[in-house]
Amino acid sequence: MNENVLFSSFQLKHYTLRNRIGVAPMTRMSSQHDSIPRQDVLDFLVRRAKKEAAIVYTEAIVTDYESAQGYPGQARMLTQRQIDAWGPVVRAIQKEGAVAIMQMFHCGRVSWPEINPAKRIISASPFTPKQKNPLAGSPYPIPDEMSSFDVEHVIQGFVETAKGAIAAGFDGVEIHGAHGYLISQFLSPYSNQRTDGYGGSTENRYHFAHEIIQAVSKVIPEERLLTFRISDWGVVDREVSLFGKKAEYQEIIRLLSKEPIDAISLSTYDYSRKAFGTDRNMAQVTREVTDLPLMICGKIYDRNSAEDALKDADIVLSAKSLLLNPNWVAEVRERKALPIHKSDEANVAYTETSLP
Ligand SMILES: Cc1cc2nc3c(=O)[nH]c(=O)nc-3n(C[C@H](O)[C@H](O)[C@H](O)COP(=O)(O)O)c2cc1C
Repeated sequence: MNENVLFSSFQLKHYTLRNRIGVAPMTRMSSQHDSIPRQDVLDFLVRRAKKEAAIVYTEAIVTDYESAQGYPGQARMLTQRQIDAWGPVVRAIQKEGAVAIMQMFHCGRVSWPEINPAKRIISASPFTPKQKNPLAGSPYPIPDEMSSFDVEHVIQGFVETAKGAIAAGFDGVEIHGAHGYLISQFLSPYSNQRTDGYGGSTENRYHFAHEIIQAVSKVIPEERLLTFRISDWGVVDREVSLFGKKAEYQEIIRLLSKEPIDAISLSTYDYSRKAFGTDRNMAQVTREVTDLPLMICGKIYDRNSAEDALKDADIVLSAKSLLLNPNWVAEVRERKALPIHKSDEANVAYTETSLP
């Protein structure tokens, strides 16, 4: 591949990205009672835009005050005060030449009651993950199986949060369908044992994602972006392949490709790792069945890995490298030898340390 592709522009719908590098969504757990992140956490995003990232994703914003939250200090985009707090940040990111996208999610069963105002946990089916909740130090509680009322309520949470993002001026919105959170819990046979129209066949398990995408797309103006994040792994029970088989995963990607979305963001542990027992990585397996723009993330840490990952995708996202190294984009450009950062190092994200 032409090695200059990484620093060439890319047309993402109506947006001309200045290069192929984006800041992956990163939860920071810094909000207080008002669900607004600390100012230095917001300013961090502006600094990454200033340092040449082409896309800046927000942390995952939780979609309601009932059951969506899974971690302390998460943010929301549902009140005028929250919208007003983000507005100047979004404008500053744009002024620095980057595209600002808000990610939103519902944690589903990866949560515990005390953390949600309504003290309620919901999921596709009333089953818990196998592992304990590392933050609460106890088993995850059995979630309520979602009723049709719950489904409608959750969809409305995504819609209202997307409206908040548009009011704050974001260039786009991402629906977080990855990492074993609520949408992923519906998609995966590992957590979805329903026997109604939301469970059973692949298409039925996809139905919840379909309804959210359709409802959200109606409140996103035509000129803005809608992306969908997906992964074959979850933050709990990490060893489990959420789709199990290549054919199953590709069927979901085919269904996604029919939706009014502008890109698929593919999250992996390691972009180069072979997937589903094949000799192809996740991006290659995804590319086989979609023409949508593809973002790839997972252990992209230097110029070589970024160029290699771009052979099978259009945009690379980095989390840990861009979290810990403010000069990462410039150093990638200079082909500097750079480290692969460990997960432990990223824990600084959840502290009161103001990152450079
Ligand atoms: C501190 C931290 C917070 C994260 N929060 C989110 C999040 O809110 N939403 C999300 O989709 N992924 C989240 N991730 C996962 C990253 O976006 C990314 O997929 C993962 O870290 C692998 O990329 P990397 O190897 O470049 O770090 C987070 C990762 C880190 C390190």
